Amino acid sequence: MSIDLTETSITEAVRKTFDGVENERVKELFVCLVQHVHDFAREVRLTGDEWFEALDFLKRVGDVTTPDRQEFVLLSDILGLSVLVDLINHEDGSSTTDSTLLGPFYVEGRPTAENGSDISGEVEGTPLFFSGTVLDVDGHPVAGAQVDTWHSDGNGFYDVQMPEKLHHRLAMRALMATDDKGRFWYRSVAPRYYPVPTDGPCGEILRVANRSAMRPEHLHFRFHAEGFEPLITMLFRSDDPYLERDAVFGAKRSLVVDFVQHDPGETAPDGTHLDEPFQTVEWTFVLARGKS
Ligand code: BEZ
Ligand code: FE
Repeated sequence: MSIDLTETSITEAVRKTFDGVENERVKELFVCLVQHVHDFAREVRLTGDEWFEALDFLKRVGDVTTPDRQEFVLLSDILGLSVLVDLINHEDGSSTTDSTLLGPFYVEGRPTAENGSDISGEVEGTPLFFSGTVLDVDGHPVAGAQVDTWHSDGNGFYDVQMPEKLHHRLAMRALMATDDKGRFWYRSVAPRYYPVPTDGPCGEILRVANRSAMRPEHLHFRFHAEGFEPLITMLFRSDDPYLERDAVFGAKRSLVVDFVQHDPGETAPDGTHLDEPFQTVEWTFVLARGKS
């Protein structure tokens, strides 16, 4: 019955409307969502003004969302939901590389690059040489894996955050492939810690909670390989001041790496001699075998 509903009976009435949903999982998700959202409203004695403010907030999240500005993803990130979903779905303590969140700066239209290329897109900064190896759990190389990498510049800005300066070019990101030994390597510029975008509605939440907006310095990676589970992860700089207080809860000790500092004149991994300081980072990623 859905007439003369009370504060308590309305939940059952709404839940029942999902009885006919054929897909059991979809049904479970809606029924549970309704239960929790209703319980939340009852528990906090939600007022009409507060609910309209919340809906207006979500509308504003939608208003600033574009293909290059994912404010809904950011909302999920700052509320810890993105990392929670990742933790629920990835076993702890396995021998494979830990995953972490994707973040809002991954973009589909990234350029492809050959191993050894400079992917900085002519952005200025301290040269960084990254060398990665992709292995399976038995230590065998994963050849032909698709590797996406992306990161900020030395001031903590991604290419999509400075379209005018870069004349709408993408930079500091590429889609690469591992060689027959599972290796991939590139030159770019060293990234920097940075604040998550605070000029949109999510910034209001951070300010009201007096929270730091900073993310520790990191490089992003996303792997796809035939027969393996996809992996989305990051590597964090070991001496970063924000490592223990990531605004989006994504930092993990298992993903901390030394960004090795080199003096001018030392030989870079590509065999060249640079007349400026540069950094090198090496890492081995281990992919889980596909379940399907
Ligand atoms: C990022 O690492 O790119 C990121 C992740 C979450 C929120 C903002 C940025
Ligand atoms: Fe990032």
